[in-house]
Amino acid sequence: QTPIRIGLLGAGTVGSQTARLLVEQREELSHRIGRDIELVGVATLNPDEVNFPWIDKSLLTTDTAGLCTRADIVIELIGGLEPARTFVLTAIESGASVVTANKALLAKFGPELYKAAEEHHVDIYFEAAVGGAIPIVRPLRESLVGDKVTSMLGIVNGTTNYILDEMTTKGLDFDVALKDAQDKGYAEADPTGDIEGYDAANKAAIMATLAFHTNIGIDDVTVEGITAITADDIAAATAEHKVVKLLAVVENSEAGVSARVYPALIDENHPLASVRGSFNAVFVKAEAADDLMFYGRGAGGAPTASAVVGDVVTEARHIAQGCVGPNIPMYKDLPKAPIESS
Ligand code: HSE
Repeated sequence: QTPIRIGLLGAGTVGSQTARLLVEQREELSHRIGRDIELVGVATLNPDEVNFPWIDKSLLTTDTAGLCTRADIVIELIGGLEPARTFVLTAIESGASVVTANKALLAKFGPELYKAAEEHHVDIYFEAAVGGAIPIVRPLRESLVGDKVTSMLGIVNGTTNYILDEMTTKGLDFDVALKDAQDKGYAEADPTGDIEGYDAANKAAIMATLAFHTNIGIDDVTVEGITAITADDIAAATAEHKVVKLLAVVENSEAGVSARVYPALIDENHPLASVRGSFNAVFVKAEAADDLMFYGRGAGGAPTASAVVGDVVTEARHIAQGCVGPNIPMYKDLPKAPIESS
């Protein structure tokens, strides 16, 4: 039997770690799948700048669209809206399933991509798009799909949690803490999206879509980031035994469904207050399950790659067994709560 072909788009912080796991763990992963998998190409704009001992130079290509058409599973780790959207559609239309960590893409174009995947009988997996290594997408998509989720409350951006934590515990300046977060590989290529709250908002849109089985896009989310938070604000919070956290809150109430991102003051004894550094945590309230909490590393190359490779193995198992996976969220329209001005 021929190996299941994996095409990787992007060789940055997460892409390079994903390649490492796929290459170094190939034998073990193939065993778990029941069929061999092979990394057949790594698409990057600048092959000369990619230097990882586990990525064979012969795998590097600038022909991203071509790679999309010769893989069974395409891993999209380019980020951003375009050309990521076009490449994902090319992969789907070529009959490849897609694994992506691209929250901005899903929050903006999710419905278009899910529809295309459904039409071509392939799947889109995106565990790494929310909460990095934390399993939260699959629990919402599968484990809790029989329940009624009423709200979720989460710290879903590692960069801002790291910055706020460093400002609180070490008295660091905002800019110094941001530089640290960038050096550690937590921040987006353009960290504006982290600190202005848009990264968390993309994740809130995905969480609300999965939790409430309705289509919530980035334009439905009210967003306020942490750029206005000063050292004085942090000191004032500490004096009151509170901490400042950037929260993503999604709710399905009588007013309708809503998704918001804003810096909140929370009591120092609240479980979310102890979420340190780049860690993320998400509380889920569901009618039958009651309260659940998910916690773990929300950013960084290796943790995010763990979630990506988990998706690859899941889809490869489906390919090996000749079936389609959990498949596409089925939506119905729900009333949306009025957007509050922030
Ligand atoms: N920039 C993101 C964060 C990476 O800081 O959480 C993970 O999505």
